[in-house]
Order: sequence, then structure tokens, then C-alpha cells
Amino acid sequence: MKNKTAILFLITALLALLTGVTFGLLAALQYLIPDFLKGLIPFHKMRPFHVTTVITWVILCATGSIYFYLTQVEKLKLFSNKLMKTHLLIFLITGVGIYLSYFFGKMEGREYLAFTPILTIPILFGWLLFGINYFKTMLKQVKNWPVYYWMWGTGIVFMMIHLIEAHLWLLPYFREHIIKDLTVQWKSYGSFVGSWNMLVYGISIYVMAKIKGDDAIGRGKLAFFFYFLGLTNLMFGWAHHTYIVPTLPWIRYVAYGVSMTEWIILGYMIYDWKCNLTKNEKNASPLAYRFLMATDFWIFINLILALLFSIPAINFFTHGTHITVAHSMGTTIGINTTILFASLLFIASRMSAFTKTQETFIKRSLLAFNISLFLFFSALLVAGAKRSNWMYAGNDTSFSNMQDSLFWVYMAFFVFGLTLTTSMVFISLPILKKLINSFRV
Ligand code: HEM
Repeated sequence: MKNKTAILFLITALLALLTGVTFGLLAALQYLIPDFLKGLIPFHKMRPFHVTTVITWVILCATGSIYFYLTQVEKLKLFSNKLMKTHLLIFLITGVGIYLSYFFGKMEGREYLAFTPILTIPILFGWLLFGINYFKTMLKQVKNWPVYYWMWGTGIVFMMIHLIEAHLWLLPYFREHIIKDLTVQWKSYGSFVGSWNMLVYGISIYVMAKIKGDDAIGRGKLAFFFYFLGLTNLMFGWAHHTYIVPTLPWIRYVAYGVSMTEWIILGYMIYDWKCNLTKNEKNASPLAYRFLMATDFWIFINLILALLFSIPAINFFTHGTHITVAHSMGTTIGINTTILFASLLFIASRMSAFTKTQETFIKRSLLAFNISLFLFFSALLVAGAKRSNWMYAGNDTSFSNMQDSLFWVYMAFFVFGLTLTTSMVFISLPILKKLINSFRV
């Protein structure tokens, strides 16, 4: 293989995943032992270390997969290898900058982008290079794009727009007006997630098409309906998150309907694809296939939770509790991470087939992953319900008593987080080995 940069993106993504889940475990330990590592990395720093690193896993793995598919599977001639290398280099250097910014407490940013805002400039520049490379490559060489090419292109463009939007609070015009500030902040984060979902969901359709050996899934009416729905969700889906911002109720209901329908369609597409696969097609990519089945299961579970807590009367009680964290982790792990693992397994198995032992090992690890995630997710729901009960019905109990009563729930969260992490390490290591070995070829 001549160009290794796409593989380097994927290796860095896996390293980010392993580092990110370690930060997650340390943060979970801080729930149990509040003084643990307090002097070095207190919880308010550990959390952004964790969240930014796992988001980096999603972004780098999606980006590396797209570069790999274009150059190694579709055999397109990339507009510029130099731009791809520069893109990786910029992200690596910025990553170091982000860690330093967190470590030294330069955390003026917000939410998932808590680092010092100046670092967004190189990130934006990296996306710009990706965008130039993507469109220059695709517009020249590919006509009649299947849906996943549209999704990737859209994800890249909107990622830039929403990264900028997520920093509008830097302008006094927004910052000094609380409703404007809140609205723009929630909107931009919803769209930011929508942009990476475009990349990741596009990858799921691409992998399904390649396993089936038929592009029909990426060209049908349903696929394009899904794309336009995703685009609408990316632009307007935020409205059902902003319960505290005064908006007309119908806007919220439409936004809510759109985002639920998006999941239902993706879930249906995966289910329909599974029903139409022959035994040989399943056996040709057994691991990627199983991970996409897991995605389908987690879409279903997350849909139930999202349907429930999007009902305003229920949202009133769940907002600001661990139920919201269950939603964010349930989706980024259950849906995004399983799709990205499917992509990595598809890529790794093209390099050389997994041995039977490796295959069994990964299948068992996936089972452990699903069971652990289910219990991990349930622990978060219990913690959220208990806190909500305290907030609205337990005013005679102090906050610290409520926290003490959650000890065993936090213990369960930590233990299942540990088994979840172990299962992800076991899935990642054989893939990492193949990616590293591909450098020798
Ligand atoms: C692929 C793996 C993972 C992903 C993608 C992920 C993603 C996330 C995201 C997006 C949040 C922010 C939640 C929010 O703001 O609502 C979060 C928070 C958190 N995660 Fe994870 N996570 C992963 C694995 C883990 C693991 C294995 C643990 C270990 C127990 C963990 C522990 C935590 C903790 C303690 C928080 C902070 C919750 C709070 O604010 O109180 N995560 N994670």
C-alpha cells in the first residue's frame, strides 16, 4: 500500500479511543472517590479530557475511513496527498495543544469544545483542507453520486459552519443576550453532532453497500429521503433540545419528529439490508456484519429513551441528570462507535483475513461490549432517576446525602464501564495490529 496517511488517521483514532475511555474510567472513579487525582486532574478537567478525546475518536475514525475508501477501495486519485498529510499533522499538533490547554486550566471554551477557543482556528483549517481534497477529488472523477458521497460532502461543509457557529458566543452581540446566547449554543452543538452523524451514517451505508456488493442501498429513494431528513435534522433538530429557550411548541414537535424518524429510517435500512443478505455475503464479512447488527439494536434502545424523554413533561424531570448522559453515551457508543468498528473491521479484513481464533475473540468481545453497555446505560438511568427524585421530591435530604445514597449505583457504573472498556480494548487490539502490520507491506 503506497499511501499510509489514511491508516495513520485510523491508528490515531484507535489510540484516541483507548486514551479517551481511560479518562472516562478515571472520571467515574472520581464519582466514587472525589479526592482521587484531585490535585493533578480534578473532575472538571477529567470530564473534558474524556469527552474531547472520545469525540476525536469518532472524527478521526470517520475521516480516516473516508480517505481509505476513496483511495484504497474506490481507487480514486486523491487531489493532493500533501493536503491529507497536512490535515493529519494539523490535527495531531492541535490535539497536543488541546491537552495542554486542559492541563493548564485554559478552558474558556464550552461543552464538547471546552479548550481555549483559539485552537478552533487550526481545527477549521484542517476541515477546510479535507473539504478541498474531497470535492476536488470527487467532482472530477465521480458522476452520479450515491448517497454516502453526498453525506460525506455535506458533513464536511456543515462541520465548518457549525464549528464557527459554536463560537459565536465570543461576540458580545450574542454573549450579552442570554436567550440569543443559549439558543445559538444549543443549536450549534446539535448541528455539530448532526454533521459528524452525516459522516458516520454515510459510512454505515457505504459498508452495507460493499458487503452486499451492490450499490442499490446507496441509490434508492429511501436512502435519499434519509439524507434529506438528516440534513433537516442537522439544521433544525436542535429545536427539541432547547426546552429552556422560549420557542413555539410546533417548531419543537416538528424537530422532534424529524430526529426520531431519522433513526427509524436508519434502523429500517440496516434491518432491510440484513434480510436481503445471502449467507455467503454475511460470511464474507462476518465481523462488520455483526457490528452493524449491534448498531441496529442500539438504535432501537436509544430510540425508546429519546422518545420518552423528549416528551416535555418527562424532559422537565430528566434535564440536567445522568439520563441525558445516558442519551449522549448511549448514542455515541451504541450507534457511532459500533458503526466505526464495523468500518475498521471491514478495512482490516481487506488487508488480510482475520484468523478463526481472532474472529471468535472479537465476536465474544462484542457480546461482552453489548452486555456491558446495557448495564452501564442502565446504571446511568438509575442515577438520573434518583437525582431527579431528589431534585423534585426529596428536598429534606442534603445534596451530599443524595450523593452518598448513589454510591452503589456509581460503583455499578464504574464496574460496567471497566468491562465495557476491556471489551473495546479486546476489539481494538487485533485491528490495531493489522493496521500497524500494513506498514510493512
Ligand atoms: C467510546 C466510548 C465512549 C464515548 C464515545 C463516550 C462519550 C461521552 C460523552 C459524549 C459524554 C458527555 C455526556 C454529556 O455531556 O451529556 C461522556 C461523559 C462521561 N463519560 Fe463517556 N464515553 C465513552 C466511554 C466511557 C467509559 C468507558 C466511561 C467509564 C466509566 C465513561 C465515563 C464518563 C463520565 C464519568 C462522563 C461524565 C458524566 C458527567 O458529566 O457527570 N465514558 N462520555
